[in-house]
Amino acid sequence: MARGIDIGTMNIVSAKQEGSDTLFVQQRNSFVEIDYSDMAEQMLARSDVLHIRKGDQVYVVGDDALNFANIFNQETRRPMKQGILSSEEQSAIPMIKLIIEQVLGEPEPAGERVYYSTPADPIDSELSTLYHQKTLESFLSDMGYDPEPINEGMAVIYSELADSNFTGLGISFGAGMTNVCLSYYAVPVMTFSVARGGDWVDGQTATATGETVDKVTSIKEDDFRLDFTTDAGGVEGALSIYYDNLLDYVISKISEEVNEEDVEEGLDVPVVVTGGTASPTGFEGLFEERFEQADIPFNISSVSKVDDPLYSVGRGALVAARSEEGQQAESDASAEAED
Ligand SMILES: Nc1ncnc2c1ncn2[C@@H]1O[C@H](COP(=O)(O)OP(=O)(O)OP(=O)(O)O)[C@@H](O)[C@H]1O
Ligand SMILES: [Mg+2]
Repeated sequence: MARGIDIGTMNIVSAKQEGSDTLFVQQRNSFVEIDYSDMAEQMLARSDVLHIRKGDQVYVVGDDALNFANIFNQETRRPMKQGILSSEEQSAIPMIKLIIEQVLGEPEPAGERVYYSTPADPIDSELSTLYHQKTLESFLSDMGYDPEPINEGMAVIYSELADSNFTGLGISFGAGMTNVCLSYYAVPVMTFSVARGGDWVDGQTATATGETVDKVTSIKEDDFRLDFTTDAGGVEGALSIYYDNLLDYVISKISEEVNEEDVEEGLDVPVVVTGGTASPTGFEGLFEERFEQADIPFNISSVSKVDDPLYSVGRGALVAARSEEGQQAESDASAEAED
């Protein structure tokens, strides 16, 4: 068998095939640090709380981090920032490792192939993804897997554009980044990322309105709609403004990049938008409206949003891993037939 895993700034999601179903396991990529002496022993004794104890400190990791942060009045922290391992949280390496181990489990059998998502280098920042990619590769190898990186935008193409022969534009609007990939027949012809996503929207909105980032994030995730009619001057009004600005920014970068890459003109290209930041009602409508106004040398045949935007990249990594496995089996079979 083969697996896929999406290692994102906010969510880590594994995918595997069981019969005709795809099984996903998800954890938040976050942790909180608490004094051991404050903590009732039985809270951790609940067997499924992921945690690490270091001397007098306990680190609660993954989905439970937010609950514990609320109880103990602490802020959650994140091992990754803007799509890659955070240089401000180097001590968080064991936490992200624990989350990856929990969502992926043991290889079955040893040496099982796993495709893991990595972002493209951002075009608007000095950040490099190489260290991030190589560090994840070594975690996965240590766990007994045979890891292979897959570009996050390309994973969207594998997940959502099988019906158009893996041809189209896939965009993953995540927490730390937005990843873009243009593919023709499963060959990526343009991949890039920008170091802006949901975290940027939250941070800007918090600064503009004086709310905390955590509060803004929860308002945004709880039934916020991109309709520009409500709450001028409030958090939802500010969220709409920064969403709009993010879309303008991403589309202007797509326009710059396609014009630089000499992409063939006049093609009809399907576009898929996904990632948690694409969740609000009204997102794809606004995207389509802005995209049509932009200077882009191809026509879009459709803009679609996926039903489960948090799972697309994990699913795409799985599809890519399984397709490699299938090709391997085919070439083994034909080599045998020749013998
Ligand atoms: N219902 C929702 N409405 C609006 N935003 C949402 C919703 N659900 C999740 N988000 C936002 O989506 C982002 C997380 O999306 P996703 O899991 O795709 O990112 P990621 O893969 O972890 O990050 P990246 O790809 O940038 O490394 C966060 O900014 C989160 O606040
Ligand atoms: Mg992502």
